[in-house]
Formats: sequence, structure tokens, C-alpha cells
Amino acid sequence: MPAPEIRIFKNLEELSRAAAAQLAEITGPIKPDGRPFSIALSGGHTPKSLYELLATQEFSSRIPWSRVHLFQVDERCVPPTSAESNYRMIREAMLDKIALPSGHFHRMAAEEPDRDAASQSYAAELQTVTADSSVKWPRLDLIFLGLGEDGHTASLFPGSAALEEEKLAVCPNWIEKLGMWRLTLTYPVLNAAARIIFLVAGPEKAEIARQILRSPDASTLYPAQRVRPSNGTVTWFLDEAAARFLA
Ligand code: 6PG
Repeated sequence: MPAPEIRIFKNLEELSRAAAAQLAEITGPIKPDGRPFSIALSGGHTPKSLYELLATQEFSSRIPWSRVHLFQVDERCVPPTSAESNYRMIREAMLDKIALPSGHFHRMAAEEPDRDAASQSYAAELQTVTADSSVKWPRLDLIFLGLGEDGHTASLFPGSAALEEEKLAVCPNWIEKLGMWRLTLTYPVLNAAARIIFLVAGPEKAEIARQILRSPDASTLYPAQRVRPSNGTVTWFLDEAAARFLA
């Protein structure tokens, strides 16, 4: 896999503007197969800044929402009204303010007691919208990923069982360090994507960014390093604070 592209921005605002512009650029032309664009959104403070920007008139008017379906990368197993819910964050930051057609946001029902059934149902929904019989896994057009200081991405945390999931597109994952369950897209889906954009900002991410982006290519020490689309691109969007060790 070619080395990922690295783009460095002055601050989170500039990073988010560039990511929003990239989304507008990608969704501009109608896809050759006429299918909608499928975009997956992560939780976290860094991605939230992008969602807030996408909700502004400047960017919202540039996105053909009628040709876009939004998915979740992962979700905490809490009610959708919880302050910890990624859905609630995405809804408040963006969904409540954009003209996304009904049925075009696909929420992970991670609050369901039967987490396996909720995962299977979400995988089926993902497959239906992205359906392409020529590929085994749902192929998302773009996935926005965050990065934790421990090298996690999505809800794929170091040492967690979902790191080894190869059969399911979506699965529950117990996160020991947080003492909580989550639902997450798995590596087969992440690595089937056409485009991955990592959104990384803040001085606290500088060391993990250095270890991931400056380590030997073969390294798969951290979960984020195993995001290597077989037929897609990976671009890292960092602000200067997070990139300070990448000179
Ligand atoms: C989540 C996210 C997670 C997040 C990273 C970065 O549910 O928390 O999906 O992967 O994107 O932890 O979060 P910050 O940008 O807040 O550091």
C-alpha cells in the first residue's frame, strides 16, 4: 500500500475546513453507477468540529445531501439521548441543521440489549445502501476516522477482541479500559473503503502520530496502523500541534 498522504494545517479550524471542502469535492460529481455517496462518521471532539462546519450555510449548500447517505463508524452502548452518544453529538452538531433526506442517516442502535443483533442489523443496512455485488464487503466512499492517544481508531482499541474480527462487518466490542461496550465497524469494512481520512488535532496526539506515521511501514502495533484499504486511499489531516514531531 502506498504511503499515506499527510496534510498539515495551522489549526483545527483550518483542518476542518479542508476536510469539509474535500467532502464537497468528492460528492460533487454524480457517481458513474448513479448510486448515492456513503460516508461514515466517527465520534470524538476532532470530528465534531468538521460536523459543525458542514452544518454552516457555507458548506451545507455545497453538499448534495439528497445523494448522500451517512453512517456511523462506531457507537457507545448508551441511549441515543446520552451525553456519551456519538449519534447525539452528530445530531446536535449537524443533522438537526442540514437538509439530509429522511432515511439517509443510518444510526447504530447500540443501546439495544442484544448487541449482536444490533450489529447484524446495521451490517445489513450498510450492505443494502452500498450494495455492490462485485465486492464482498460494503464499500464506503469515505470514512472519517479519529485517533486516540493509545492508537485506537473507530472503537478498535488496543487489546480488544474486535481487532481480530474478520467475518463480521460490524460487531460489539468490550473496551476494558473504559469499562464499556461499543459497536464498531471492523477492519474488513474499513479496509474496503475507497477513501479514509484521519482527523487528528492537538498536542496530545503528537506522540502517537509520530509513532504511527514515522514507524516502519510493517508496524501494526497500533490499531490505526491496520487501516490499510486494499483498493483505497488514506489521508492524514493533522494540525500543526499534532504534527510537531513529523518534521
Ligand atoms: C469515539 C470515536 C473515537 C474517536 C477518537 C478521537 O467513539 O470516541 O469514534 O475513535 O474518533 O477517540 O477522539 P477525539 O478527537 O475526541 O480525541
